[in-house]
Amino acid sequence: MLVPSLIERKRDGGALAAREWTDLLQAYGRGDVPDYQMSALLMAVVWRGLTGEELAAVTGAMLDSGARLEWAAAGRPRVDKHSTGGVGDKVSLVLAPLVASLDVAVPMMSGRGLGHTGGTTDKLESIPGFRTDLSLAEVRAQVERIGVAMFGQSDAIAPADRRLYALRDVTGTVPATALIAASIMSKKLAEGLTGLVLDVKAGSGAFLPNLDDARGLARTMVDLGTAHGCPTAALITAMDRPLGRAIGNALEVEEALLALTGQGPEDLMTVTRALAVEMLLLAGRAPDVAGALRLVDGALRSGAALERFRLLIEAQGGDPKIVDDPGRLPQALEVELFEAPGAGTIAAVDPRPLGEAVVAMGGGRRRLGDRIEPSVGFVVSGRPGATVARGEPVASVFARDGEGIEVGMAALRRAMRFGPPEPQLPLLLCRVTSAGEEPA
Ligand code: URA
Repeated sequence: MLVPSLIERKRDGGALAAREWTDLLQAYGRGDVPDYQMSALLMAVVWRGLTGEELAAVTGAMLDSGARLEWAAAGRPRVDKHSTGGVGDKVSLVLAPLVASLDVAVPMMSGRGLGHTGGTTDKLESIPGFRTDLSLAEVRAQVERIGVAMFGQSDAIAPADRRLYALRDVTGTVPATALIAASIMSKKLAEGLTGLVLDVKAGSGAFLPNLDDARGLARTMVDLGTAHGCPTAALITAMDRPLGRAIGNALEVEEALLALTGQGPEDLMTVTRALAVEMLLLAGRAPDVAGALRLVDGALRSGAALERFRLLIEAQGGDPKIVDDPGRLPQALEVELFEAPGAGTIAAVDPRPLGEAVVAMGGGRRRLGDRIEPSVGFVVSGRPGATVARGEPVASVFARDGEGIEVGMAALRRAMRFGPPEPQLPLLLCRVTSAGEEPA
């Protein structure tokens, strides 16, 4: 295989045959294609996209690069959710135990932080002792026992995606519809699901900020799911401001604990409820939206969702006492308040500088293998549209040292704009299924 000629063909707007993609990805998996050639090809895909046939081949090759989870035929419905990535997006931490408490099996494989966005696996690992490196046998046994497992991608499932994902993270090749769709769907299809819900983000904090691009991504993934016999629904949700108040690994776990009792910030609860409804409908656990919402609110109110999270933490070796005492989560050494510079309105809170700052403060990776400092981040209490007095605290920075505080304060100055309110995306934008698109 002449890799340079494949790169040139893609660069010039041509297409690779399905067989060429399969061979190439297999060769990359064996270590026979170096990262620099793969990076060049990925960049060509960012510019040129993939045809439908190429997308199917890339997704299939990544799916076939590893094993699939196998389940007993007569078990509970198995439904997962995946987000395309955002800032402050801790929905998975709430959703997985919540939906599992309603008798749906949730084998949830999650990613690590990517670019400026956080990753569920990193968030969970801020819980002392929590293991995300479960084997497939452990995942299966745990899902059968308590209905839920939250685990990281290993070499067992879609290892080709795992390597490409890490390469894309450091080569500026994340934001491409085809690459995101193939990456997400190859992992999710390997889980042996009976249904999949996607949270596709739009807005400045998303990988594809433009709403039409987000729509295209949602449609692409729904079509891939459908083609593989996995009923798939997508919600497009706003990421032009952070979701909830907390941004940063341990801070987000703490906010998720509140949300598991129904008392999280309103935007977080709205997105979580909407996704939970989709999961319950796909699982056939409720006849309609109103019925599904009743189940969701019941599980939050009764404590069943929170209890399932405690069981999950225990099952994966974490300290379950954090549920009653979040003070046991890693705590930042330095905390500083950010005050409104004048009286007026918060015009906007741009999520991207805040996500980037968390990485710069040590809460994400700049290079493969970087160790993460779980305690750092922000709590942004000032929401877009709120009226504030001069000097009123509107956010806090959590850092490991004075330098981190500086980085955080500078990011807040960039992210929080004051003045006449700027237009915001509706939180729930639209719903995409194989039947088409409708308002959410
Ligand atoms: N999440 C993924 O799993 N892959 C991507 O490419 C982007 C977000």
